[in-house]
Amino acid sequence: MKIKLFPVIKFIKKVGSTNALAHQYLEESTFQNNFVICANEQTAGKGRSDRNWHSPIGGLYFTLAFPGSQFTSSITLFTGIIIHKVLSSIFPELSFSIKWPNDIFVNNKKVGGILTSANTNGTVIGIGIDCNIREIPDHLKEIATSLLIETNRKVVLKNLLKIILKSFERDFYLFNEKGFFHFTEYFNNHHYLTQRKVIICFDTEKLEGIVQGVNEDGMLILETEDGLQGILSADKIDILS
Ligand code: BTN
Repeated sequence: MKIKLFPVIKFIKKVGSTNALAHQYLEESTFQNNFVICANEQTAGKGRSDRNWHSPIGGLYFTLAFPGSQFTSSITLFTGIIIHKVLSSIFPELSFSIKWPNDIFVNNKKVGGILTSANTNGTVIGIGIDCNIREIPDHLKEIATSLLIETNRKVVLKNLLKIILKSFERDFYLFNEKGFFHFTEYFNNHHYLTQRKVIICFDTEKLEGIVQGVNEDGMLILETEDGLQGILSADKIDILS
C-alpha cells in the first residue's frame, strides 16, 4: 500500500494501543516521516476521557502519526468527515452522521470514534471503527453497533484502510493550508447534534442548551439561556431531546 502522505504503514497483529505505540515511536524518533500503525486487535485501546475502547478482532484500529506537527483541534472534526464520506460511499444504504467532536453514528448508535493527542514530538490521530464485529458487549449494546450488525456485510479491513488513507490525503492539503473553513458546511449537514437539546459536561461545570452547529473553527455553537456560546472541547455530551 503506497500513500504519499503516509510513506510508512505498519501492520501489527496485537498491541496495547496503536495511539500509545505511535507516541512511543514519536518519542524515539523511529520514523522521520508521517506513519500509520494498524492493529488487528488492541488489548488496552483508549477512548476519550480515559475510557476504554473495546477492540476485538474484526474492528479497524489505526493511528495516523505526524512527527513534529501540531494542528488545531478541528483536525479531529476533519478526520470525522473523511470517515463519514468513506463509510457513506461504501454503505449507501446507511445514513451515517458525525457527533461533535469525534463520534461516527449510524442508526442512533456509535460505530466509530477518533482520539487525537499531541505533544512536542508530534500529533497522533487514532481511529477505531466497529466493522466485522457480530457481538457487542452487554454494557455497550444500547449505545454501540457495528457495520456487520447494521448491514450483515463484512468489509475487507485493509481495503477500507486504504480508501480512508487516500481520502484523507486528498483533502488534507486543503485542510492544512486553509483550515476547517472549507469543511464546516459538510460537517453541519451531517451533524448528529444539530438542533438537539444537550448538556455539555466539563471537568467541574455543565452547560445546557440547543446545538446550533459548528463554526468555521470547528467550535460547537450552543444556544444557552445567556445567548450563543462557542465550545472548543468537552468531556461528555448528554442528549436531552
Ligand atoms: C472515542 O470515541 O472515545 C475515541 C476512540 C478511539 C479509538 C481508537 S482505536 C485506534 C486508536 N488506538 C487507541 O487506543 N484508540 C484509538
